[in-house]
Amino acid sequence: MTTAPNTLFKITRKTDGISAAERERIVANPGFGRAFTDHMVVITYTEGRGWHSPEIMPRQPLVLDPAASVLHYAQEIFEGMKAYRAADGGILLFRPEANARRFRKSAERMAMADLPEDLFLEAVSQLVSIDRDWVPAPEVGTLYIRPFMIATEAALGVKPASEFKFIVIACAAGEYFSKESATVSVWVEENAVRASHGGTGTAKCGGNYAASLTAQMEGKAHGCQQVLFLDAQERRWLEEMGGMNVMMVMEDGTLLTPPLDGGTILHGITRDSLLTLARDQGLTVREERYAIDQLYSDAASGKLKEVFACGTAAVVTPIGTFKSAHGECTIGDGQTAGPITSRLRQGLCDIQFGRAPDPHEWVKRVL
Ligand code: PLP
Ligand code: COI
Repeated sequence: MTTAPNTLFKITRKTDGISAAERERIVANPGFGRAFTDHMVVITYTEGRGWHSPEIMPRQPLVLDPAASVLHYAQEIFEGMKAYRAADGGILLFRPEANARRFRKSAERMAMADLPEDLFLEAVSQLVSIDRDWVPAPEVGTLYIRPFMIATEAALGVKPASEFKFIVIACAAGEYFSKESATVSVWVEENAVRASHGGTGTAKCGGNYAASLTAQMEGKAHGCQQVLFLDAQERRWLEEMGGMNVMMVMEDGTLLTPPLDGGTILHGITRDSLLTLARDQGLTVREERYAIDQLYSDAASGKLKEVFACGTAAVVTPIGTFKSAHGECTIGDGQTAGPITSRLRQGLCDIQFGRAPDPHEWVKRVL
């Protein structure tokens, strides 16, 4: 953990915002990723001076030089995290220091400025605090928080930028997947890969997501809401989805998920939390490679009982069907969440919303 410079945020409050009644109407049915709050945090980095000028201001468009490095060489990283409304009306964050740590790792991989973890945490807390009225009721959803960093130096030479902005925005959020069914369908991408050894798979950089979109489009054309990527070398081993990790439940109750040691999979905080909760619940946990052909045959034989996607946005989302250019396979009855998936989701959400004891001290109260 590095320490932040002594920071004092300049605060400019929005004065011409929407009415409280209009905000309440939006927050009661927010969808995902569109119901943005009133404010944003902006902190500037200049080489030689470090991080400076922290500000909270009304959410507004950015002014960028058209030669800004982010627009040409994609020096951009981000995080995804949530604030949860507790039963007493207070507001909680879940493992925010893990996001701050991962953000530093992503910055290092993308040759960007190192943001001290306590500055990241302070910025997030400040935004949640000023936009507290945008945090939905627990039965509706959460506040989705998007910290990100962009390279702002105007320079077309290919080199690490010397100027950056760290920005935090947030939106009221309901479920990531629209709820036509309890399960989602997943497209197995057999050609394009998301990450390869030595690449940027473990960094949360925008380019990884841009590279996932053609597969996502193909999946959508086949009626799928997400895409599963396989390893780059053999197109055989399950890696992760476009925006979430993947886990399997076998007939003996073992929880299985692809390992992180290949250096290609995002180190999901939800993934890590679920593995811990599963162990707490007495399940056997295995971080092991699992081949897509094995998935098809285990699903057919009944050895594979449940599969789910997990991540901040997705929480725990059961997968009902896998489709590929070669066919289709159903998990369980294809329609409902399995018992272990449901239990893990419930256990995680109960901690996140402050409804259950928090033995690992994951929850941090903001208000
Ligand atoms: N994998 C990818 C590619 C993601 O975008 C995400 C979401 O952030 C995850 C996994 C899950 O990570 P986390 O649980 O930290 O949100
Ligand atoms: C998140 O879960 O926070 C992500 O960044 C993934 C994306 C699907 C929104």
